[in-house]
Amino acid sequence: MKYLFANWKMYLDFDESCVLAHQLLSHPYDASQVKVAIFPSAVALSELEKMFAGSSYLLGAQHCDAHPKGAYTGAIGPELVKNVGCIYVLVGHSEYRHLYGEHDREIHKQMELALGAGLIPVLCVGESKEDMEAGKRQYRLKKQLMDALQGIDIKDKDFMVAYEPVWAIGSGDACTPSDVEDVHGWIRKELSAYTNRSIPILYGGSVDAKNMLSYVSLPTVDGVLVGGASTTAESFFSLMEAMK
Ligand code: PGA
Repeated sequence: MKYLFANWKMYLDFDESCVLAHQLLSHPYDASQVKVAIFPSAVALSELEKMFAGSSYLLGAQHCDAHPKGAYTGAIGPELVKNVGCIYVLVGHSEYRHLYGEHDREIHKQMELALGAGLIPVLCVGESKEDMEAGKRQYRLKKQLMDALQGIDIKDKDFMVAYEPVWAIGSGDACTPSDVEDVHGWIRKELSAYTNRSIPILYGGSVDAKNMLSYVSLPTVDGVLVGGASTTAESFFSLMEAMK
């Protein structure tokens, strides 16, 4: 099974999300080979749930809060995203870590609550350019995995990991397939300290229809998390074609 996960970030408003979702529905795909999940803006989740009902398109949230429910103005907790039909939730996306200063402590809590709510968290990890230049890639990834997972009973739980180097996201400078292959192999070994399950590992960071096959054809890569290139029908369909 391969995964094509589309992170629409804040690129599309409610109407634009519905239009694109409608276009996707005219393009059914073979769900026995690939799982396609859409992570739209939170304002469009509930509508897309209705639109995708009965189709093979799955729904995910871009974020969930580190609190379950209550007096947290502006927040959307894991139970709330589960309640509008999400299967997946991104946890620890680089834009939250770096633009909003989201701390590993919160990411750990989000993992715990998302699992408790019955969601499949997609834990995003990735080193910065400075980490990479200082030879600290593995150090950073190990720490992010450990801070997020240690102390949570995840042995029987489904979760996923997305390796997204910070410098590769939205930059057009994707990580080379051979580096991705090495890093994914290394992450897989690290994960064996937490679970015996086979955890799907996605690559993300400037993936487009041209380079996608060079990642998804690698045995250590279970799929891709795509931002910019998933936000128009034309480029989305090229991604789906390249996935075949
Ligand atoms: P990008 O974003 O494909 O636009 O680089 C990927 C992501 O942030 O998940």
